[in-house]
Amino acid sequence: MSFIIDIHTHVYPPAYMQMLRSRKTVPYVHDPSNNADPRLIILSSDDATTIPLDQRGRPVDSSYWDIDVKLSFMRQHGINCSVISLANPWLDFVEPAEAQMWAERINDDLQRTCAKVNQAVDPENALPLDKKETLFAMGALPLSAPSSDIIVNEIKRLKTLKHLRGVIMGTSGLGKGLDDAELDPVWSALQETDTLMFLHPHYGLPDEAFGGSETTGRYGHVLPLALGFPLETTIAVTRMLLSGVFDRFPRLKILLAHSGGTLPFLAGRIESCILHERKFVSGGGDVPGPQRSVWDVLKTNIYLDAVVYGKPGLEAAIAASGSDRLLFGTDHPFFPPLDSKEADWPSVTTNYKAVHATFGTDGHTVADVLGGNAAHILDLK
Ligand code: URA
Ligand code: ZN
Repeated sequence: MSFIIDIHTHVYPPAYMQMLRSRKTVPYVHDPSNNADPRLIILSSDDATTIPLDQRGRPVDSSYWDIDVKLSFMRQHGINCSVISLANPWLDFVEPAEAQMWAERINDDLQRTCAKVNQAVDPENALPLDKKETLFAMGALPLSAPSSDIIVNEIKRLKTLKHLRGVIMGTSGLGKGLDDAELDPVWSALQETDTLMFLHPHYGLPDEAFGGSETTGRYGHVLPLALGFPLETTIAVTRMLLSGVFDRFPRLKILLAHSGGTLPFLAGRIESCILHERKFVSGGGDVPGPQRSVWDVLKTNIYLDAVVYGKPGLEAAIAASGSDRLLFGTDHPFFPPLDSKEADWPSVTTNYKAVHATFGTDGHTVADVLGGNAAHILDLK
């Protein structure tokens, strides 16, 4: 039996839900008048005034904020340990003056939640050998804070919280994307503290890429989630590469959501375009090209989750980064079964099946992807 660790699993702590309830612009929570589940409106395409308020966004139930529901989901799917993270859009939108307060509040809350769940297991923080579920967490960063010192201080403070193992971050950075030179103090702090950064999409692509709001409305969340999210991740990490972030910070550790979006599949094309870009030829342009190849970065800086729902995606991930850098995840509580009576979540079983189909009888590698790699990389024992 493998020890299974879920490194991609989210929460909206109750205090965060309350904050969203007080807002009227994206992101916000709306409580329908008929006592139905609250509606979570976090994507700009969900906010069309043509959609009645009670039907906007998606319904959310207690699986989004109640940790006991997360624990029973884990039990049901054989997951022994979860590394929980705040879900999108994290703290990207909070007023600059409130960013530090919210980061501390969320991160302290995550630490308390993990400590409470784990205390019955092993006071020495070791992985339990019995069937009890354990929790660790990735912290949120105060990216809208007025100074990068506040972000750097929070990265350092997280190292003092016993159950925190890295940070989760979106693609907007300080508001201008991840190739923004103003992020250098943040990259430096992450590198110096040896903190894993989980890069996760939220903003997708402009609605126009999918035919405008009329089309996106017609197909629900399929286009923004299936295509917008992975392309957003791919673009963000490619901008980091092009701007030389990995040259300046060669020891950064970045976990990419959804198996890197399309990065493993497109890495060869990205590399070829860099090679053929006149701007990067010495003396030809104002931007120095990246010194390190995308393949080198994929094999030394990048980790990929296994949340890609199929063998071809996993094979691209393995070819790009290696099976020792691939980590099982679920994306819970997003993608619940549509039929609430259904016991197993297809979003989870599909990922399990894809891992088994990819590695076949190689039980060692299956065990590594399902938990061994995460235990080692995140120091969970
Ligand atoms: N998965 C996430 O993490 N966030 C979403 O908004 C949808 C799916
Ligand atoms: Zn996610």
